[in-house]
Amino acid sequence: MSRAILIVEDDQNLSGVLSRVLTREGYEVAVSNTVREGVEHLQKETPGIVLTDIYLPDGKGIEVLECARTISKEIDVIVMTANATVESAIEAMKKGAHDYLLKPFQVDELTHHVRKIFERKALIAENLYLKERIKSRCTYSDIVGKSSKMRELFSVMENVANTRSSVLIQGESGTGKELIARAIHFTGNRSEKMFVPINCSAIPENLLESELFGHVKGAYTGATENKRGLFEYADQGTLFLDEIGDLSAALQSKLLRALEDGRIRRVGDYKEIEVDVRIVAATNKDLATLLKEGIFREDLFFRLAVIPIMVPPLRERKEDIKLLAEHFVSFYSDGKVPAIRFGKEAMEILVQYPWPGNVRELKNLTERLSILKAGKTIAPGDLPKDLVGEDHMVPSVEAGLSYQEARNRVLEQFHRKIIGDALKENGGNVSRASESLGVDRGNFQRLMRRYGIQSAEFRDE
Ligand SMILES: Nc1ncnc2c1ncn2[C@@H]1O[C@H](COP(=O)(O)OP(=O)(O)OP(=O)(O)O)[C@@H](O)[C@H]1O
Ligand SMILES: [Mg+2]
Repeated sequence: MSRAILIVEDDQNLSGVLSRVLTREGYEVAVSNTVREGVEHLQKETPGIVLTDIYLPDGKGIEVLECARTISKEIDVIVMTANATVESAIEAMKKGAHDYLLKPFQVDELTHHVRKIFERKALIAENLYLKERIKSRCTYSDIVGKSSKMRELFSVMENVANTRSSVLIQGESGTGKELIARAIHFTGNRSEKMFVPINCSAIPENLLESELFGHVKGAYTGATENKRGLFEYADQGTLFLDEIGDLSAALQSKLLRALEDGRIRRVGDYKEIEVDVRIVAATNKDLATLLKEGIFREDLFFRLAVIPIMVPPLRERKEDIKLLAEHFVSFYSDGKVPAIRFGKEAMEILVQYPWPGNVRELKNLTERLSILKAGKTIAPGDLPKDLVGEDHMVPSVEAGLSYQEARNRVLEQFHRKIIGDALKENGGNVSRASESLGVDRGNFQRLMRRYGIQSAEFRDE
């Protein structure tokens, strides 16, 4: 954080003393003798504190105050005034000055004030940071998975956490890319600094540039204050560029330059700022195709993909489904409502389903069931139609079943579904259910027994 102080004071004896004392205390001090000089300084630098006299040769300290307020609300202004001008001091307070000091004052009094202000600033910054950390704190223990593909992924994460190399995480939507990005940051040696996420597709292109790199006051209409970019916030930490595949061509080249130079420039500024930022990028688009089509720059791709991580879709790690489902069940049972349980058949359907929305879809389903079916053992009939849909019923060849086994499994699922639906339709009445299907009542009951289907489960409350 900036420990810079600007003193605007025409009495050079006083400014000399203040400057010496504050410099000795470890602050970076600049002195201006006039309003004009003070304002010029503020247009270039953003100090933490401005200390200004009220009466200056070319105007009033109020102008310095007003200028500081428009540049950044984070600058604290203290006005210094002689007894005779206490009214101006009060006016200054009304206009947003942090405090005023009556001249002559003890230098100790001033240093005490200054120390307090910087302490408060540090607390505010720390507070914001801690909030972000608590919200997003995450380690491997939050990432559920025991499949060999996930174990492989954990070992890559472990190896890269303490490096500065760029990481590119690719995978379908909902596979856990953001979770992985956070884990890499919070288990690595940058975890004490900020993890700064930004979604490149959610922000219009012209705003994205100033979000990333910051801007100076007046850089464009609407830029009423100097603003730090996310690169600066992420200094010594991690910048998470989500949906990187949606970055425009112009920003791709600006990002590439920033990564190559390790320096950025705020929009509208000539000055370069050195930054030490670790980049983790993610996308659910197929970057290989974007590269071929010339939509994504190859040189940027290689910069970002120093460590490429592919997160497999959930259907390719079926061993994790049960574990994840149980994890989410306990996540959503908050003690106020009884937890649900997935019955054996329902769980089998979950394992067979191809999960186009991946882990997010499973998480959302568990949330919905936890609320709507609190305390219940979830049966296939409780699951949404598309999960039980015929397309997903046929076991894949990878399941390694013989023709006969596969056929039996399909038949079982078919019977469970059609019998369950008919019973549900008919409020659990077996005669009417069998009739609606045009099946003999005896055969219908035999099938119910074979699959352990209870008509009571389908009776209206
Ligand atoms: N292995 C996992 N263990 C526990 N929770 C997970 C796991 N993978 C994903 N999740 C949860 O699933 C949800 C989706 O994950 P995340 O937001 O990281 O996906 P994503 O890959 O970034 O998706 P998108 O491409 O749509 O942005 C989150 O709530 C996340 O906490
Ligand atoms: Mg995401």
